[in-house]
Amino acid sequence: MATAQSLSHVWPLGTTLNAAGHIEVGGCDLVELAREVGTPAYIVAEDDIRARARAFRAAFDAQAPGVHLSFATKAFPCTAVLRVLAEEGIGADVASGGELRIALRAGIDPARIILHGNAKSPRELAEALDAGVGTIVIDNADELTALDGLADRPQDVMVRVAPDVRGDTHDHISTGQADTKFGLSLAEAPIVMDRIRSSGHLRLRGVHLHIGSQLLELDPFRRAIEAVAHLGPVDAINLGGGLGVAYTADDHPPSLQEYAAAKVGAAREHFGEDVAILDEPGRALVATAGVTIYGVQSVKRNVSTWVSVDGGMSDNLRPMLYGARYEAQLADRPGGSARCHVAGKHCESSDVIARDVLLDDPRAGDIVVTPVTGAYCYAMANQYNGVPRAPVVFVRDGDARVVVRRETYDDLLSRDVL
Ligand code: LLP
Repeated sequence: MATAQSLSHVWPLGTTLNAAGHIEVGGCDLVELAREVGTPAYIVAEDDIRARARAFRAAFDAQAPGVHLSFATKAFPCTAVLRVLAEEGIGADVASGGELRIALRAGIDPARIILHGNAKSPRELAEALDAGVGTIVIDNADELTALDGLADRPQDVMVRVAPDVRGDTHDHISTGQADTKFGLSLAEAPIVMDRIRSSGHLRLRGVHLHIGSQLLELDPFRRAIEAVAHLGPVDAINLGGGLGVAYTADDHPPSLQEYAAAKVGAAREHFGEDVAILDEPGRALVATAGVTIYGVQSVKRNVSTWVSVDGGMSDNLRPMLYGARYEAQLADRPGGSARCHVAGKHCESSDVIARDVLLDDPRAGDIVVTPVTGAYCYAMANQYNGVPRAPVVFVRDGDARVVVRRETYDDLLSRDVL
């Protein structure tokens, strides 16, 4: 019989094993849920998102009341998720016209929306101006020229700066180094800031930096803030996101309190006590709330044991893009000692969701669950091999609610022009 110890600390808040020994998330038995909503599916514990949002708020309030928190929409661009976060007082940063549309649909106050992007189109800039977004973060001099030409009333802007500080994360998600497509160099930033100061409609609020994602050390955040100190004084500094989360029991990210203290401390030290502080977490707000359920289609034994499931790199690209590691469990009998690879259904060998996980004698028909899939999984979902994209299901107090339905074959054909 499985015990609660079979599950590590990375599972959503309130995850338990019920009397039948099945994993329950948000009070819902994942075996029953799989029967109800089908597999694969993204299951999201609403209470976990709310708890994380409140913990973020409390951690920053303890340092400096009034820090503006916005959710990096790209981490989970789903209207229902943004609605929950809006109810918890979190704003949104968006990186495209599409994300802006989602944030507006979720009812986020446009004044609390921040627009990012290193290649914003004139159309996206115009959409942001029309919507009345609070802040546009200028990434480069061409964008400034375009925006200056479009703005016909006052618009707050910040400038994104690459601080030339490299955090310890995968190359693909490191952005703070000097040789990057994101932001202005330390040399060009003052020139662009002067241009903004002399613009008719644009009002310079301050500086933005975001050095990368899934960072497990705090020192790079401090060094990055110090590296842009000479650009002050400014009214406001946006410290980006970047806090890493534990994907497996072996990961030990800093606490929210340590994260907030490091960032706010450095911002105050280098920009003064009165500077307004903004932070824009993505992953650390939503990653732990999500688990993905899969149906096992076959189990094959050759050199390894291959447990093949009905999803894969169409619902979670992270192992393939960043070598990300995930835990996996069987929903009705967590624990076990059979070393397996959980493989997807897609036509390439990189399509492995979790390597070297220990499962309890897996068989076709079992339900496999991978935790910590709330961030950048739904976001990067695709239809490779014509696999319809998975639904998003909120669970809370034993109730399940589909907030994004499963894609259909008709959806796959819906853009054909014949
Ligand atoms: N602000 C800006 C300007 C960003 O570009 C990002 C993430 C964030 C905030 C939020 O960062 P977070 O708190 O989530 O680390 N697809 C990759 C992650 C790409 C992150 C892109 N930018 C992954 O699955 O790991």
